[in-house]
Amino acid sequence: MKELKNIAAIVTGGASGMGAATARALAEEGCKVAIWDMNIEAAQKTAQEISGLGIQCDVTSEESVLSALESSAQAHGVARILVNCAGILRGARIVGREGPASLDDFDDVLRVNLLGAFNTMRLVSHALSTSEALNDEGERGVIIHAASIAAFEGQIGQAAYAASKGGVVSMVLPAARELAQFGIRVMGIAPGAVATPMIGEISDDLRASIESNTPFPKRMARPEEFASLALHIINNDMLNGEVIRLDGGTRLAAK
Ligand SMILES: NC(=O)c1ccc[n+]([C@@H]2O[C@H](COP(=O)([O-])OP(=O)(O)OC[C@H]3O[C@@H](n4cnc5c(N)ncnc54)[C@H](O)[C@@H]3O)[C@@H](O)[C@H]2O)c1
Repeated sequence: MKELKNIAAIVTGGASGMGAATARALAEEGCKVAIWDMNIEAAQKTAQEISGLGIQCDVTSEESVLSALESSAQAHGVARILVNCAGILRGARIVGREGPASLDDFDDVLRVNLLGAFNTMRLVSHALSTSEALNDEGERGVIIHAASIAAFEGQIGQAAYAASKGGVVSMVLPAARELAQFGIRVMGIAPGAVATPMIGEISDDLRASIESNTPFPKRMARPEEFASLALHIINNDMLNGEVIRLDGGTRLAAK
């Protein structure tokens, strides 16, 4: 998709971190951006900065996503771009000091990170499937999912998170294959550690360990680097059905 001016875009989890950086980058390109997030205050604050729309949305709920989709379409028209950044991180050992890992926590992580990504993709692509094509190649839109390098090298304590992101990674190719008939591309970005509120105020020791395990550059990624890759994916029509690592060459150790 080469021309982004006045294109409607949706960013889930756009109230914070990589989602907020992506919403800003899309707005700078001229997109009309709808930020869907559980945190309505933060969503509206970011939306205001970019003259976009902040909508309270729980990506795990069909009703909530359908309602967000309707408000977004009314304000901006059919969304051609979906960047799925809504996500949660919860770590726990399978067999911990206090017993087996919580099944509810496992369920929550899978619901938000995997089911949520599927839910928004299915409803946004359904709406897109009947829209006008953008050009004579039949292009209609692009969907980008935030995965994680934990999908490939999950660490001790990351069974739930790694499983959720592994599911996202596995979903990208079949989704791209199926949605190709509508001219919709599907891609994933698998970041390593990114300096966002999700990582929080980590200890100096942990920061030093992340930095020393990153071949180059020796630092965490910036949310703007995720946004920049998302923009490239949107712009480059041959990128489809793939998950790109964004990690400075990092390969996670067991812990
Ligand atoms: N920060 C990292 O190091 C890192 C690394 C790899 C992958 N990721 C993934 O990238 C994505 C973005 O991460 P981030 O670091 O920007 O996180 P973040 O915590 O800064 O932002 C996540 C946003 O998702 C929203 N959210 C949570 N549950 C939701 C729900 N059910 N419905 C709608 N919104 C919901 C939160 O309110 C928050 O605004 C996540 O999927 C995360 O798992 C993060």
